[in-house]
Amino acid sequence: MRIRYLLAGSICALVVSILACGKAASTGSEILVGEYGSLTGGIATFGISTRDGSSQAFDEINKAGGVLGKKIRLLVEDDQSKPEEVGTVVTKLINQNHVVSMLGHVASSYSLAAAPICQSNKVPMITPSSTNPRVTQIGDYIFRVCFMDDFQGAVMAKFAADTLKAKRVAILVDIRNDYSVGLQTVFREQFKKRGGTIVAEQSFSQGDSDFHAQLTQIKATNPDAIYVPGYYTEVGTIAHQEKELGLNVPLLGGDGWDSPKLWEIGGNALNGCYFSDHYSTDDPSPMVQKFVADYKSRYKNQLPDALAALAYDAAKILADAMTRAGTTDGAKVRDAIAATKDYQGVTGKISIGPDRNAVKPAVVLKVENGKYVLVETISPEQVKL
Ligand code: PHE
Repeated sequence: MRIRYLLAGSICALVVSILACGKAASTGSEILVGEYGSLTGGIATFGISTRDGSSQAFDEINKAGGVLGKKIRLLVEDDQSKPEEVGTVVTKLINQNHVVSMLGHVASSYSLAAAPICQSNKVPMITPSSTNPRVTQIGDYIFRVCFMDDFQGAVMAKFAADTLKAKRVAILVDIRNDYSVGLQTVFREQFKKRGGTIVAEQSFSQGDSDFHAQLTQIKATNPDAIYVPGYYTEVGTIAHQEKELGLNVPLLGGDGWDSPKLWEIGGNALNGCYFSDHYSTDDPSPMVQKFVADYKSRYKNQLPDALAALAYDAAKILADAMTRAGTTDGAKVRDAIAATKDYQGVTGKISIGPDRNAVKPAVVLKVENGKYVLVETISPEQVKL
């Protein structure tokens, strides 16, 4: 009996000391970076691609020796594509896991919900891909490495007017999505400036699956094209229903279309449609081609979408900033991110401006039998009217 107690006691002691060692090791030799995203639910490919891109970057960095003599460990939390979950997961990463910096989100509405929490806790946040201008206005700890929607909307307006020679365009907007509403405003203004007419404006909400009523109204206005600045799940369904109604004009969209699932949902109905995006896997630059090849070999031959590419760049910029700061202290890392200049990423050259945004060219991609083919690259100078 006594022996059993003794044995149990020493096993307990052993377990306690192993746990204690483990904890000491995880705080001593690692740098914890948080990432919040949608890994399940309606916009799941956004979070999955982002996680895969940032993991690839941090693995490369760790293999090369890490940062400040430590390895970076990425902790990813899932908000299940529910904006109301964002606060909980971001607070957990900050208060329980004590992450030193944050990557996220893709969707602008989610970034807008999380940024005030990062800002008030003085945790630097880099959104790889949220394009709504308001995100970085939340405060001086909030950065982005992508272009913004005032540019992206102007790119599509230029493309519609100059390349497609469209005169009459209808807009179908996701009304509760900050990103979508922001793009609607810019596109409307810019397309009119180029002499075009907006013939109809209709709306839907994320999660809707029947768009016949809106598309019927749009059809009656006889448009040359329809601008749908939404996310891939609804866009795929809209493409089907548009064709069903015999409305055979191209749909135009923004980066929110970018997902391998877009084609899975929309299929042939999307052939001949166009969207603006951050980069193309067709880019022949050796850096892009190496990134694409490495990603494909890591992730079952999957092509990296723009989210994966932007997350890869965001992770590398964060690590670079920590190295330059010589510390993981929030305020110092914030200053180092702010000082990022001419960083050559896979999505282009990244300099962080005084308003904590990056200014970069955009690409226009055409959907062709499951491929997203590069049609044009448009730089910020080209859309100035
Ligand atoms: N820019 C979109 C937003 O702000 C998110 C997105 C970026 C989606 C890139 C796909 C690709 O909501």
